[in-house]
Amino acid sequence: MAKKTDQDTNSNLWGGRFEGAADQEMLVFGASLPVDMNMLPYDIMASIAHATMLGKQGIITADEAQLLVKTLTEVGHDIAAGKVELSLEDEDIHMAVEGELIRRIGEVGKKLHTGRSRNDQVVTDFRLFCRSACSEVIDALLGLMTDICDLAEANIGVIMPGYTHMQKAQPVLFSHHLLAYFWMLNRDLERFEDAAMAASELPLGAAALAGSTFDLDRELVADALDFVQVAPNSMDAVSNRDFALDCDYACAMVMMHYSRLCEELVLWSSDEFGFITLADAYSTGSSIMPQKKNPDYAELTRGKTGRVYATLIGLLTTMKGLPLAYNKDLQEDKEGLFDAVQTVLDCTGALDGMLTTMQVNSERMLDDAQSGFMAATDLADHLVRSGMPFRDAHHIVGQIVHDLEKQGKDFRDLSLEGLKAYAKEFDDLRLVDIRHVLEGHDTFGGTSTRRVREQLELAHTLIADYDESAE
Ligand code: ARG
Repeated sequence: MAKKTDQDTNSNLWGGRFEGAADQEMLVFGASLPVDMNMLPYDIMASIAHATMLGKQGIITADEAQLLVKTLTEVGHDIAAGKVELSLEDEDIHMAVEGELIRRIGEVGKKLHTGRSRNDQVVTDFRLFCRSACSEVIDALLGLMTDICDLAEANIGVIMPGYTHMQKAQPVLFSHHLLAYFWMLNRDLERFEDAAMAASELPLGAAALAGSTFDLDRELVADALDFVQVAPNSMDAVSNRDFALDCDYACAMVMMHYSRLCEELVLWSSDEFGFITLADAYSTGSSIMPQKKNPDYAELTRGKTGRVYATLIGLLTTMKGLPLAYNKDLQEDKEGLFDAVQTVLDCTGALDGMLTTMQVNSERMLDDAQSGFMAATDLADHLVRSGMPFRDAHHIVGQIVHDLEKQGKDFRDLSLEGLKAYAKEFDDLRLVDIRHVLEGHDTFGGTSTRRVREQLELAHTLIADYDESAE
């Protein structure tokens, strides 16, 4: 069981306090180094800001600060390039970087950790990671949102059935349906902006939990790292992971939206619907059934929603009942979020590919839209506008549907006389024309072509605003 390392004594950076050697299995169990690699650039960035501040404050000399900054940059590059052999005895990225620094510049390297603890260090790195991950996801979302707009624009004339209860309800523009996802993604984008803002508070200077005895200039470090504020309570600073939960939540929400869109892609690409045909590159075959073309990637994206939700629930559970301040439980905060962010990015790419390469079967959609008695509500509305109480109008139209259905017919088979036989107020056959019905839904946010074009313009303006503010 408990194997001892080769060393007689504990060679960790905290070895002074220890007599016995470390247990190899426990070192592996406690290490976060493999997971931490995502934070390497941020660990270097934060250490550079810290060292520079130590120099400015005269806590170390200017020359020492300069040497630290220079060597930190080199260590960062070399670790990233795989040129530094890392050992699990380093436990995490902070110890690995500091250990390598000391190996390279000795005494000066040992001064970096002055006025700092890994407790404020790790959460600073993690905040920097979150902020940059949010902006990467925002860029990806903007790409997908732009492609959804282009698709909506290119297919503006396509009519499809709109559903409630998965039953045909009223005709809508395919573009209107697509743009519903634009607005979901826009809310997601805002959630990532909020999460980035939540991450933008500097914990460094909180040290282990109580603040530092050194005259640290926290504002200076905050400015160097582009944080908008300094954490006002050192205990909260080292134990707060709300920002990570915000990011987890934003990931969970976007995956929920992706899973809904993917579900529709799966349905629409089925023989039964036939509304779209996914490109070969975004479908897979069956190893046994030669005729199959499966929407695997849409299903996989839908399925990956589970692991992203798990990340949110996992961290919420880790945080529950955790006493102040730092506890090692907090090391469990990162792996899930790294995975969730990567999953969102991967799924965004997959969805973008599926949408931009799929074939839109407009005739099939139109045919389906015409066959489902979807003009019924509008027919009743017409009677109401002619003075009939809605309940009576509803009854008359219900009867028309009932009669047609019995004969295996639909609204397309009606003549004006046939329609008039039910109510003299029916004065125009266009009342059952699906495009006429659709164009009648002209309230702001409705599905008429005019309103969908208006919506597209709004969407374009939003994207242009985002692009401008990013410049
Ligand atoms: N690897 C640790 C983490 O991810 C860093 C902080 C460790 N601090 C400590 N006191 N053990 O949380």
